[in-house]
Amino acid sequence: MHVYPLVSNVCISIAIFSLIPGYAFADGGFGEDEQPWERCALCHALDGNSHMAKFPKLAGQQQGYLEKQIHAFRDGGRTNDGGQMVSIVTEIRSEDIRPIAAWFARQRHPEPIDHGASMDEGREIFNASGCQTCHVLAATVSDVVPLLKAQHRDYLTKQILDFQQGQRLHTSISSTSDPIALLRRTEVEAIASYLAGSSR
Ligand code: HEC
Ligand code: HEC
Repeated sequence: MHVYPLVSNVCISIAIFSLIPGYAFADGGFGEDEQPWERCALCHALDGNSHMAKFPKLAGQQQGYLEKQIHAFRDGGRTNDGGQMVSIVTEIRSEDIRPIAAWFARQRHPEPIDHGASMDEGREIFNASGCQTCHVLAATVSDVVPLLKAQHRDYLTKQILDFQQGQRLHTSISSTSDPIALLRRTEVEAIASYLAGSSR
């Protein structure tokens, strides 16, 4: 497995911090001045605008969706994170899940990143596949539907491939009628570049 240098640094940081009084991770408690979302900052950044594509941007994401994912990592419903989230969520208390999700949801939306790909191509496939029906239109009325624009390109690509390979469940629609199942690899990349390069 490829080991990301930041991640090993992060693990070392966690190990070091857990030795310092006031950073008592072992019992699931927090130092007196520590907010429950601060430990998420190691990977996702305190304002949720992470810099590494491996770590999704949480800033401005829908609160209900964030809560649902945290529960999914805790309950074993989502396991495509290489074990990183699954281990961190065991350290947070149930009553902290909502305030943590609310913290990230109210941060400033991320800036799009232009990867130099054709925006028209990705937009056309995204719209023709019906993705925008849920991710743009339904997302205005349901906060469990994630916003995809301005998310990291490589994170989006990974999620779509994970859905296709059954590593993560996309939606309640059946796998045979899921438009994601029909996308070819080049289409997945075009969609991910278009989304990463689009403002919310
Ligand atoms: C050691 C690194 C690390 C830490 C610390 C961490 N995460 Fe994550 N998190 C990840 C990774 C990696 C993923 C993406 C997994 C994947 O590829 O599907 C992720 C995904 C998520 C997602 C899913 C986002 C989406 O768009 O679906 C949420 C929500 C999340 N993390 C919340 C948190 C919260 C809340 C905390 C703090 C309690 C936290 N994370 C701490 C590594 C971390
Ligand atoms: C019927 C509604 C619906 C349609 C159509 C739909 N999605 Fe989704 N999508 C969802 C929901 C709901 C989730 C959240 C799943 C969960 O809770 O884990 C999701 C999750 C995702 C994610 C993960 C986001 C993240 O932050 O981890 C990606 C990427 C995605 N969809 C891409 C697409 C693409 C591309 C299409 C079109 C080919 C599409 N979706 C069509 C409802 C839909």
